[in-house]
Amino acid sequence: MSTFIERAECDSFPRYLKQLGTELERFLCFEHGDAMDKPERWQKALRGPLPEQGVGIGPVMDEIKRYLIPNGSKISHPGFSSFITTGPTTLGALTSFTASIAAPQRLGLTAFQFLEEQSLEWLGEMLSLPPYMKGIYSSGGSVANLVALGAARQWAFEHIGIDPARDGVLKPCRIYATASSHHTIHRSAAVLGLGRNAVVAIKEDCEGRMCATDLQRQLTTDASGPYLPIAVVATAGTTSAGAIDPLRQLANIARAHKVWFHVDGAYGLPGILDPRVTALYDGLELADSVVVDPHKWLGAPIGIGTTFVRDRDILQRAFTQGPADYLEGTISETTAQSSLDGLGIPYADFGVELSSPPRGAVVWALIKEIGKAGMRERICRHNAMARLIAERARAHPDLEVLREPTLSICCFRYVSQNITDLNAFNRSIHRQLLRNGENMPSTTMIDSALVIRPCFIGARTLEYHAEELVDEVIAIGDSLIQTR
Ligand SMILES: Cc1ncc(COP(=O)(O)O)c(C=O)c1O
Repeated sequence: MSTFIERAECDSFPRYLKQLGTELERFLCFEHGDAMDKPERWQKALRGPLPEQGVGIGPVMDEIKRYLIPNGSKISHPGFSSFITTGPTTLGALTSFTASIAAPQRLGLTAFQFLEEQSLEWLGEMLSLPPYMKGIYSSGGSVANLVALGAARQWAFEHIGIDPARDGVLKPCRIYATASSHHTIHRSAAVLGLGRNAVVAIKEDCEGRMCATDLQRQLTTDASGPYLPIAVVATAGTTSAGAIDPLRQLANIARAHKVWFHVDGAYGLPGILDPRVTALYDGLELADSVVVDPHKWLGAPIGIGTTFVRDRDILQRAFTQGPADYLEGTISETTAQSSLDGLGIPYADFGVELSSPPRGAVVWALIKEIGKAGMRERICRHNAMARLIAERARAHPDLEVLREPTLSICCFRYVSQNITDLNAFNRSIHRQLLRNGENMPSTTMIDSALVIRPCFIGARTLEYHAEELVDEVIAIGDSLIQTR
């Protein structure tokens, strides 16, 4: 009979951590090729029947080192600028790992729970949110937006005497956003029982920002209809182009119509640290809820989003689980003698997760390591990189900028009179970039043009990566033209 079942292997921590550290360091050099170079090799090694008997930690660790790590993702590569995701910093990963062992849950009277609130306060202060706004962590922008819109739904229905958390959604609703809003807004509407069709697309200006006059017009029209307005959703840093909606104007319109004002800054809120663009966030303090994702620009490991709200009590009314037998008796908050004698701040009733890792320790560590100044330096560096690409593209006869960068995204493409289908041509350039595996932006559509879209957020991504990307796009474009 195997002895490997449920054996605590604590004595081997230092040995395996050292081995893992060495392998991960090597991984980050990205000299191992791409997982898709020879997928059959690792697939063959990893595929197998369900083991009846365990093999123990050693052989599993060997497989992790041989087959998993070298066939992992390019997301941590410094030349990766696709989507809006990145590898964590070393300290972010280490703190997350530490928390998974030392405090597997955020509940309890622990140092980790303590940092949950302190880090939220630091984050809010760093990003210029008013001090009365309180936060809650969740798994990322998707859930953070869901939580914010859950609060908006609660607020709107309470104003007409209905508790939607208890009684459900008893009226057709509307959320006002733009076509450039992240689709997690639409999914949130679906999950909250409002329906995807509740999201109305307000027109954008030529820079991709919500058009205030169109919002005003739509709210006025809807005021005489059957709809309950739930929220105006502004984006501070759109996913495609990094545009920032005119927050103050939109907030004033939302307020005049007594509608909740939400700002999705999942990607772009840290941009406020860059003095070149700080003014674009004017009016942020008027938001009822704001979302920002530490696992994007701030370098946290995946799984950390944040919702800030003006009034956290509303979150409790929207999301509380209510009393339950299994919660009775175990905890004695009045006579706390052990860290198990209290839940601490009841975050589990402010969102949709009961079990949750204590994410605050990670954010605390990230901010403590490099400070606000270090974060600002990273944001400014990445914003400057997007501008550098725009400058180089403007100066080159075969490149074109389709949206001037606001933050760290630049939307540009290769153009030449000899190309009949520019979208297909730029798609081919992008395919080749991914195959080369050194500079990996995404693509997006600007109006009906397919553009190359780097979004720089990686802590290990430096100025020269922007230069290299432009050089590579030119080289690939030139060679594609020559081989036609
Ligand atoms: C503006 C915006 N909101 C929300 C999200 C969703 O975030 P997540 O992927 O963390 O769920 C994204 C993702 O890129 C985003 O750009």
